[in-house]
Amino acid sequence: MNYSIETNPLETLESDCLIVGIFNNQQLTLAAKTLDDQTNGLLTSVVNRGDIAGKLNETLFLNVIPNSDIKRILLIGLGEQKPLSVKNYRKILSTIINEAKKLRLNSIAVSLTDCDVEKVDLTWKTRQIVEVFEDAIYQFTECKSKPADELSLKNIVIHVTDSASAETGLAQGLAISGGVSLAKHLADLPANICTPTFLAQQGLTLAKNFDKIDTTILEIADMEKLGMGSLLAVTRGSREPAKLISIEYKGGEANAKPIVLVGKGLTFDAGGISLKPGAGMDEMKYDMCGGAAVLGTLQAAAQLNLPLNIVGLIPATENLPDGQACKPGDVLTSMSGKTIEVLNTDAEGRLILCDTLTYAKRFQPEVVIDLATLTGAVLVALGRVPSGLLGNDDALCNDLIAASETANDSVWRLPLWEEYQEQLKSNFADLANIGGKDAGTITAACFLANFTEDFRWAHLDIAGTAWRTGSAKGATGRPVPLLTQYLLNRANA
Ligand code: BES
Ligand code: MN
Ligand code: ZN
Repeated sequence: MNYSIETNPLETLESDCLIVGIFNNQQLTLAAKTLDDQTNGLLTSVVNRGDIAGKLNETLFLNVIPNSDIKRILLIGLGEQKPLSVKNYRKILSTIINEAKKLRLNSIAVSLTDCDVEKVDLTWKTRQIVEVFEDAIYQFTECKSKPADELSLKNIVIHVTDSASAETGLAQGLAISGGVSLAKHLADLPANICTPTFLAQQGLTLAKNFDKIDTTILEIADMEKLGMGSLLAVTRGSREPAKLISIEYKGGEANAKPIVLVGKGLTFDAGGISLKPGAGMDEMKYDMCGGAAVLGTLQAAAQLNLPLNIVGLIPATENLPDGQACKPGDVLTSMSGKTIEVLNTDAEGRLILCDTLTYAKRFQPEVVIDLATLTGAVLVALGRVPSGLLGNDDALCNDLIAASETANDSVWRLPLWEEYQEQLKSNFADLANIGGKDAGTITAACFLANFTEDFRWAHLDIAGTAWRTGSAKGATGRPVPLLTQYLLNRANA
């Protein structure tokens, strides 16, 4: 999609359709008033006729504009004449883009500058236009034999009064939605295409596309040398070679400590010997959404040329049952030296993450944030609205909460108290890999906490937020917006 910022008078813009707002007391916005003047009161007359009341999300499409160079006008209802909530603003944007798609317009010009949104500025408003539009435009068609209907929309003009802030918002919006689309695409790909090797290739592609990115792929032999007994146990049942993908973005001072992002890259989770039930198992292709979000976030950071050092680490493997697979009762020695009794091979995410977290230490991280589709329990606790947040550092958790609010990519913090460690006691090893049926999201994070004692760390459980199920099945690209916002905030601090 081609986006541009325009400050010239709205009625002079070359576009298939000009889009302006109207409030529910039939008050035209400033932009709508200009068009009304240009069209001999056309808008006032349709409003007086009662064709549109201005209720939130209501639309009226005018496809013939008499005696005017303006081709079409789409009126969008803004509801009450007061600042919109962030959620309603995003709803309006999504209505607009869906109408534009339905009407098969080639170009649109959106003028919502005079639509105030609570607590945000023009940069943010512009950025959201791009984020919401790109989210709606995304489609996954790669695996269909016939090409999908091509989107007719090619050009989007964002009409504003201050082009500098809008350009910043546009750049941020494009970077974030580019990262979101990459994450969605990788996650939507089936597991027979998106293998650990394929994910590693994506890491190498980032290095090719950006000068400041270097990617290294650690192979199974490297993991053996490092003593990653936990990660290696998970991959033993699979014929696809595991990869530990290490992506370094060097945008900051040479000696600045990096922010390390660790993403679970389980390209298919059948559960291993503790096999999952068959229903819905296809969705376990999404078990690499953490890794995909790391790739998306690094792409966004590089595109924005952020003055930070960032490391992305993605342990990528499958979890399958096999004669060689890790078995319940097996005891593993992790890279940290701690031993782990595997009581359920389906709790594999923590097994690949713990060795990766130990490996993260060599980067002398400023902070480490891991993101993982780690537990079904997070769906029981929080549903599909916020990601679960846990961590050993209040300041880091608060920074992530603040970023999530700006990015509209919510999180909810759960406690990581010492008491829960009791549940991970093993009769045969230092730790068990499951903590029983209570507080599954917390005990999973508690397990990881045993490997993060040397740095500030936060964990995002994205099992409820990284994809949608049901008829709208598909990846969401979360938490790329949250993480990119966190990095933007760090860059500006
Ligand atoms: N990848 C799953 C978590 C998951 C489950 C994500 C459902 C999305 C939807 C993870 O590897 C897993 O299987 N976790 C187990 C842990 C249990 C065995 C302690 C779970 O949540 O059932
Ligand atoms: Mn599992
Ligand atoms: Zn899993």
